[in-house]
Formats: sequence, C-alpha cells, structure tokens
Amino acid sequence: MAQLALPQEAWPVGRTRALRTLTRALDAAVAAHRAPSIVASRAGMLLGSALADPELLEPRHCEPADDRYRQHLVHVHPEGLYSIVALVWKPGQATPIHDHRCWCVVGVWRGLERETTYSFHADVDSAYLVPRATAVSSPGDVSVLVPPQEDIHRVENCGEELAISIHVYGADISVLGSSINETFGEELVRDAADASPASWRSLAA
Ligand SMILES: [Fe+2]
Repeated sequence: MAQLALPQEAWPVGRTRALRTLTRALDAAVAAHRAPSIVASRAGMLLGSALADPELLEPRHCEPADDRYRQHLVHVHPEGLYSIVALVWKPGQATPIHDHRCWCVVGVWRGLERETTYSFHADVDSAYLVPRATAVSSPGDVSVLVPPQEDIHRVENCGEELAISIHVYGADISVLGSSINETFGEELVRDAADASPASWRSLAA
C-alpha cells in the first residue's frame, strides 16, 4: 500500500459560465457549513445540476493522456476548502485500488465509468480485499463519499468512448496533488473472505 502522486496540471482555473455558477454556489455552501456530510451533500446536488451543461469544461480540461487517466485541476477555493478536478479516461484506463483523504463528490459528464468497491479484511497474518459491488455510472450520475465511511474502490472507463468525470474534493488539491489517501496492490484481492470486514482506517491509524 502506497501513496500515489498524480502529475499536476497547469493553472489557471477554468472559466466557463457553468463553472462560475458552480463555484459561486459551492463557495456559499462551504461558507455556510463546515460538517463534511452536509457540505458534500450540497456539493452533490450542485454538481448534478452543472453536469447537464455541455460546455461545463473548457476543451483544455478534456484532453486525455495515452499512458494513464489524466487529472486536470480546474478550480481551487481561495482558502483551499474545496477543489474541482476533471478526470479524463481513454477506454480501458483505470485507477489503482485506492481510498480518499477527504470528502468527495463525483459526477460523470461524458462516457461510462465502472466502479468496483472492496471490503477490507485482516486475519492473523495478512490483510486483503474482497470485491463488494460493481456499478456503472453514465452522464448525470453523481455519487457522494464522506470518510471515515470505508471507500476503497477502483474506477475504470468501461465504455468505447472517452470518459470524463468531474470531482469536487474537500481539500486543496493544488497542495496535495491528489485526493488519494492510499493505493492497494491488485495482489491483495481475494475472491472470498475468511474473516469479517475490518476498518482499514482504524488499522492504519
Ligand atoms: Fe476514488
């Protein structure tokens, strides 16, 4: 298990009308609330509305990479209370298995993304992961995740076209580089569990 640092994309921030509308509303949400569950829920509703705009992102924030999914930093709150990131995936590109260090809201804007979630298990001499569920998200779908809710997962572009998702993170990604907390090797995955699920975060603390 290791931390992952994604290459950082260049500033300045995105300047579409839809982004300005979204960031004004998000600014108001983080000014009014501090509880992550409340802010994330509000951010999920706001992102869901923004996803309907076909001009949400500038073309430069839709560019993929050949060797892996690409992260574009689109916007950071002036005090670093949230960041907006666009992840662009060619067909078949995927994240490693990972969890997150802050609240996250994810909305699919283009294409199809498949998420596989995992439960964490630990027996006497080893820790391992067991697949828990798989779901495919399409444009307009939004998911909200608030740690310490167990959130170990892997995401891939399962379609035949480019996939783009918009992520709102409760952290300053210009400083952190990524919202990913830890990555987990594929060798840790087992088909079935010998023990009850455990809390990865409590073991890691
Ligand atoms: Fe993730």
